[in-house]
Amino acid sequence: MDLDAPTRFGELDSDGMIERIGELPQQCLAAWTLAQELELPPPYRAVQHVVVLGMGGSAIGGTLLQGLVAGECAVPVTVVRGYVPPAFVHGPGCLVVACSYSGNTEETLSALNAALEQGVLPVAVTTGGALASLAQERGIPLLHFDYSSQPRAALGYSFTLLLGLLHRVGLVRDYSTHVEEAARVMTQWQARIEPQVPTARNAAKALAGRLVGRLPVVYGAGFLAAVANRWKTQFNENSKHWAFFEQLPELHHNAVVGLGIPRSVREQAFVLMLRSDLDHPRVQVRWDVTQELFSREGVEAETLEGRGESPLAHMLSLIHFGDYVSYYLAMRNSVDPTPVETIAFLKKRLAEVGPAEA
Ligand code: F6R
Repeated sequence: MDLDAPTRFGELDSDGMIERIGELPQQCLAAWTLAQELELPPPYRAVQHVVVLGMGGSAIGGTLLQGLVAGECAVPVTVVRGYVPPAFVHGPGCLVVACSYSGNTEETLSALNAALEQGVLPVAVTTGGALASLAQERGIPLLHFDYSSQPRAALGYSFTLLLGLLHRVGLVRDYSTHVEEAARVMTQWQARIEPQVPTARNAAKALAGRLVGRLPVVYGAGFLAAVANRWKTQFNENSKHWAFFEQLPELHHNAVVGLGIPRSVREQAFVLMLRSDLDHPRVQVRWDVTQELFSREGVEAETLEGRGESPLAHMLSLIHFGDYVSYYLAMRNSVDPTPVETIAFLKKRLAEVGPAEA
């Protein structure tokens, strides 16, 4: 697919993924407002630990939240991707937020049921399914949102609703101005990377073109590590493309030693360094040294910088840019960005074997 023939994108993009990507700023604003309307009983003002349960596109919001609030939230934020919550998930000081776009993800439902037996303070975040029914039956506070898309395309909800919830329970400040700034910054950048902007002036299309046939390895540090994770999963699910992510400074203690072998991988790898001028000062030095190392080793790498003032704007601007890159790579890979047939196959096979133990 020629990236400069956007009127033809619909031939591959059967379900309008490009519109969903374009709506991320509005999603964030709508989600923030929705979270502020949630009524919670008094015990929710005495939370000692936040645990987010979810998988895939519904878990990444929790990991982004963890990175964003690490320097501010006085209690731990843990993300559980699996069937069984750790033993510390118990008692009325533990806020357990079950996030599932569909409401039917078996790992999330199983972990929530196990947590409920431990007397936690639950909240459900979903568009419906079994999770919404369980919330109604058990009187669990429900953040219900309506947005028709793939779960990963509802990130504005899954991330910002969690942030709004943490504000509602008194664990983080009022992020209204940051959410507004992030939406503004995303919208400004979007005007330069939308489909109608030709590759010669469109950095997202140009980057996607350079990634064709390559292995993207996305690096991020601190609050941008989860953004690197998001880029990786968007390459997987939208572009149907292998991708990995690594975190700085940890990667300086292992990954950099393994750049040489297999040689074919080194030649195919394309490192994307997600940076911010808000990164820790020593991390900024490490980024520069990493670039030097790659030049010496002949590893191709490119740096992308977060935009705006607030950490939230840096995160969301890079997420939005990455979503566009993954979309353009899908077009170049001649694949429909929306369906995730392999995930559907796995869920179906598991269901055939029998229901998960609650
Ligand atoms: C699909 C996607 C997946 C799902 C995951 C969990 O777009 O991103 O990673 O998010 O299979 O499903 P939900 O989100 O319905 O709980």
